[in-house]
Amino acid sequence: ENRRVSFEVHREIYVEPREKEDEQIVAEIMRRRFFPAVITHKAWEGFHFAGHEIRITEATDCYGAVVWPSALVLCYFLETHSKQYNFVDKNVIEIGAGTGLVSIVASLLGARVTATDLPELLGNLQHNVLQNTKLKCKHQPCAKELSWGIDLEKNFPRTSCHFDYIMAADVVYHHPFLDELLLTFDHLCKNDTVILWAMKFRLDKENQFVGRFQALFDLEVIFNFPSLNITLYKAMRKNQMKVRHSKLAV
Ligand SMILES: C[S@@+](CC[C@H](N)C(=O)[O-])C[C@H]1O[C@@H](n2cnc3c(N)ncnc32)[C@H](O)[C@@H]1O
Repeated sequence: ENRRVSFEVHREIYVEPREKEDEQIVAEIMRRRFFPAVITHKAWEGFHFAGHEIRITEATDCYGAVVWPSALVLCYFLETHSKQYNFVDKNVIEIGAGTGLVSIVASLLGARVTATDLPELLGNLQHNVLQNTKLKCKHQPCAKELSWGIDLEKNFPRTSCHFDYIMAADVVYHHPFLDELLLTFDHLCKNDTVILWAMKFRLDKENQFVGRFQALFDLEVIFNFPSLNITLYKAMRKNQMKVRHSKLAV
């Protein structure tokens, strides 16, 4: 009986702060989004990150059209951990960038960014990236086509492309390119590359991608928001996380 009581107490102490953390941080993240006060002929949404007001024009394509909550989670992480991670002058590639918010925030934090997506999304992506970073960033970001699994070596040769970070928000959902997505992570990721990946959990079939991903990469949970079904992972090529940590410890 005593043990049960102490377990319950422990559970109360342990569970409550995590729930609070979820509610409070999620509320804080969602407060970064705002909408136009008047209706304009072009639909846009606004965000406050990295000390800037960012305006994102929506597109017509269904998935790349809007900013998804996973992108906000990743942007919040970038902003609140910019000292620890120091993105200044780092080479960053974002895959499935959509409307470009994550790439914009990484650029505003000083990174050298390549925002990528399918060809049909590039026009709007380029527009958003340019409009929000011009004369505000150390390095002007660029938008480039990257269709997962296609022409990877031709467009991103392993010998000349080195990325410090690969960023991805909500790239796993009901689409037929999960093999190609894994291939893309594998192609772009060197031993010292850090992957920051915000995963929205939906259906079992797609959620199993995490297991497949773990065959190649070590995963660490950075944020977990059960209320959004979103987990933010840090990943590195298998065993490299340990190497990096032991190097830091020396
Ligand atoms: C759910 S949206 C997320 C967009 C953005 N990262 C965000 O969180 O707001 C998924 C993105 O993946 C892109 N995508 C889907 N299939 C792709 C493929 N085969 N190759 C490259 N990008 C793809 C879509 O165009 C879209 O921009």
